[in-house]
Amino acid sequence: MKRIILFGAPGCGKGTQADALEQQYGYKKISTGDLVRAEVAAQTPIGLEIKTLTEMGRLAPDETILKLLKNRLAQGDLLNGYILDGFPRTLAQAEELSRMTVDTETAIYLKIVNEDVVVGRLTSRLTCSQCGAIFNSVSNPPRKAGLCDLCGGPVRQRADDNEETVRRRINVYREQTQPVIDYYKRLGKLHEVDASGTIEEVSAAISGVLN
Ligand code: AP5
Ligand code: MG
Repeated sequence: MKRIILFGAPGCGKGTQADALEQQYGYKKISTGDLVRAEVAAQTPIGLEIKTLTEMGRLAPDETILKLLKNRLAQGDLLNGYILDGFPRTLAQAEELSRMTVDTETAIYLKIVNEDVVVGRLTSRLTCSQCGAIFNSVSNPPRKAGLCDLCGGPVRQRADDNEETVRRRINVYREQTQPVIDYYKRLGKLHEVDASGTIEEVSAAISGVLN
């Protein structure tokens, strides 16, 4: 079993690139952000507990996220591998993940230096509320306005994609997630990719790491 971990600031393109990798290599994408949003939408006890926190751009508790991740991993549809999008985000999560052994593990850091680039991408992002597909009103609009190209569901702005919350998410990322990148660097598993180019350029750089 192979594990690919995608790291990077909010808006660096983790979800977009994980979708591309799923198509290209057949690995399953596991986005903890999508798992969290599904709980919130379904108003489960976990969803009700973390709704305000996540919509304000703060991290959900480690135990809650680990429970969601372990449930997802137990579904048994992971074939030969999976891509983690948005996990681990704290050192405690990274240490727990290291205890879930796999045959090979590659960590890819999608690096963007200019904060305004990610703020611009996120405040114009549109997300399908049915299947989670990712669009952008400026650079990648859905073919039919307001509707997902893949499933026909309604596309909307995420509750946490307003500028104030995006800037808070970036601060949370700097404080809590940057140290995780150093953790993978110390393990010798980290590959850095410039994520400021086009979607295709970033995909090509990731393929260069994986092949
Ligand atoms: P999550 O959903 O993971 O949000 P995030 O990390 O803030 O990342 P984003 O989804 O905003 O960005 P992305 O990198 O996926 O970019 P995307 O590909 O969409 O987490 C949300 C919340 O859930 C957290 O705040 C927290 O509350 C909770 N949570 C989740 N995981 C957790 C964990 N492990 N622990 C605790 N809490 C957790 O691209 C963005 C936009 O840019 C799109 O419009 C896209 O079309 C466009 N785009 C992408 N690539 C390019 C490019 N190369 N050029 C131009 N535009 C591009
Ligand atoms: Mg995402």
